[in-house]
Order: sequence, then C-alpha cells, then structure tokens
Amino acid sequence: MNKPYTSLLAALVLASAATLALAGNDALLGEARNTAKMLGGKLKAEVVKSMKASGPVGTIPFCQRRVPEITAEVARATGWQVGRTSLKYRNPANAPDAWEQAVLKTFEERKAKGEPVKGMEYAEVVEQDGKKVFRYMKAIPTGKPCLNCHAAKIKPKVEATLERLYPGDKARGFKLGDIRGAFTLSKEL
Ligand code: HEC
Repeated sequence: MNKPYTSLLAALVLASAATLALAGNDALLGEARNTAKMLGGKLKAEVVKSMKASGPVGTIPFCQRRVPEITAEVARATGWQVGRTSLKYRNPANAPDAWEQAVLKTFEERKAKGEPVKGMEYAEVVEQDGKKVFRYMKAIPTGKPCLNCHAAKIKPKVEATLERLYPGDKARGFKLGDIRGAFTLSKEL
C-alpha cells in the first residue's frame, strides 16, 4: 500500500474512533477547541512580544510566572480546567497523568504515521472518582522561536538560567516540527 493511502486510512480509523467516544458531546468538543485556541493564541502573542522586547533570557521569567497567570485567566473565563503538558517536561508541575501520557504517546504514533502535528487532537469522556469528565488534548508543534529554549543546543546564558530555575529539565532536544507537548483540558459533565 502506498504511504498517503496508509496514512489516510489511519486517519479515518482514528477519526471514527474519536467520533464513537464522543457521540452527543459535539458542543463540548467545540468549547474545548475554542478554549485551547484562546490559550494558545494568548500565549503565542505574549511570548513573541516578550522575545522581541527582552530576548530569550528575559522571556524565561515570563514563561515561569506569566504563563500560569494567563492559564488561570482562561480557566476562569471559560470554566474549563486548562494546562500544558509533555512527555518531556520542564516544570514537574506540568507532568502528564496516566491518561495524558497515553494520549501523548498516541500523538507520537500518529505523527510517525504521517499525520500533521498541527490540528492533532483527541477527546474522550472518562470516569474519574465516580464522575464523568470530558477530556481533550491538542498537540503543540515545536516552532522556530521555541528552539531558543527547547532545542538541544541553546545559548549558554539561556542554558545557565534554565539549569538554575529547572534542575532536572527534560524539555530539551526538540527539533522543528516535533511535538513539544499538548494543551490539556477537562470539564466535569
Ligand atoms: C524563553 C524561553 C522559552 C521559549 C522561547 C519557549 N519556552 Fe516553552 N517553556 C519555557 C519554560 C521556562 C517553561 C517552564 C514553564 C513553567 O514553569 O511552567 C516552558 C514550558 C513549556 C511547556 C509546558 C510543559 C513543560 O515542559 O513544562 C510547553 C508545552 C512549552 N513550553 C512549549 C513551548 C512552545 C511550543 C514554544 C514556542 C512557541 C516555547 N515553549 C517557547 C521556556 C521557553
């Protein structure tokens, strides 16, 4: 079988699996998508602004302090629990739980099969502590500006600051187009 056909087939199988898991929750899926878009848009706009004004070293405090504030603002405004996670995380507070880890692994498999990272998402209704929870994740591609702080090779000053603030940092060694992590959202039904 040729490659485009195989990946199309894989995408169709995944799409129908997602649809089955989500029957009746289209409105929530729409909300989750919009919320992830809102968070992504705000973060990107502010990171770009900070990088222009203060360079990568000056932007590290932004990532450390301002990102959680923006995330909390989006959570308050939308009623969704929101955050970012990754298989290779920098801040242990962003470590994935078991469900997130499994989804991130399937994202890597989907990418390996040729699916574009942009637009890659997964949603499911799960039982947590006896309650039904709608959970959603959207992959975050590694863009060019991200390499300043997440590539294998970064400027010594940036590296030194990161090592001081994040001992045990795992969020290094990324290449352009890699899956840096994912937005992760949830809402109790
Ligand atoms: C100026 C340095 C810098 C740049 C540029 C940068 N990041 Fe980060 N990134 C950080 C820091 C610092 C953290 C840890 C934030 C915290 O303490 O929650 C982080 C955390 C993250 C996380 C949360 C998971 C984790 O590793 O803890 C994701 C996802 C992420 N970055 C993606 C990106 C993407 C995508 C880009 C490019 C659009 C990017 N970053 C650009 C410094 C940077």
